[in-house]
Amino acid sequence: MNLLQYTPTDRIKALARRLEGREDISVLFVCLGNICRSPAADAIMRQKIAEKPGCHITTVDSAGIGSWHVGDLPDARMRVHGNRRDLDINHVCRQVRRSDFSNFDLIIGMDHTNIRDLRKLAATLDEEAKVYGMAEFFTPGSRFDCVPDPYYGGDQGFENVLDLLEEATENLADTL
Ligand code: 4NP
Repeated sequence: MNLLQYTPTDRIKALARRLEGREDISVLFVCLGNICRSPAADAIMRQKIAEKPGCHITTVDSAGIGSWHVGDLPDARMRVHGNRRDLDINHVCRQVRRSDFSNFDLIIGMDHTNIRDLRKLAATLDEEAKVYGMAEFFTPGSRFDCVPDPYYGGDQGFENVLDLLEEATENLADTL
């Protein structure tokens, strides 16, 4: 439960209007490697959907900008930190593909570089309009403007990622 009220921006309100009436919304979470942040977002989003019958998101997946870890399970550190919160973070790594832009309603990048790279991959304005940043779903007043890459950091970075993802997925589930 957020202590502060989530107030969607005009951009997010427009998104909610665009998807109003849809009961089968699909969301793809994207980070650089698809072994830390986006598979965690995927697992937490599934947990939120199960808790919130009013949420119309029915399809969730994750992918990476890079291909280094394709076929791998998530980073062991991410799995351990997730496990402590009863999350089974078990997505098998895959790279973003062109068909994602037609198959998903919403493609959410974890940081500014992910968002820029996704926009470059979009072939049309309609495809580009599907790209959002996870920080757009943070509760206003957040100290963060993205979900920072935890890969080269320590335990606190992974905990921070999970805290930010809990907050953003809760707000996302409440919005759609
Ligand atoms: P992620 O973290 O983007 O949250 O999955 C990373 C994972 C791997 C690498 C970078 C970031 N890497 O350079 O291999």
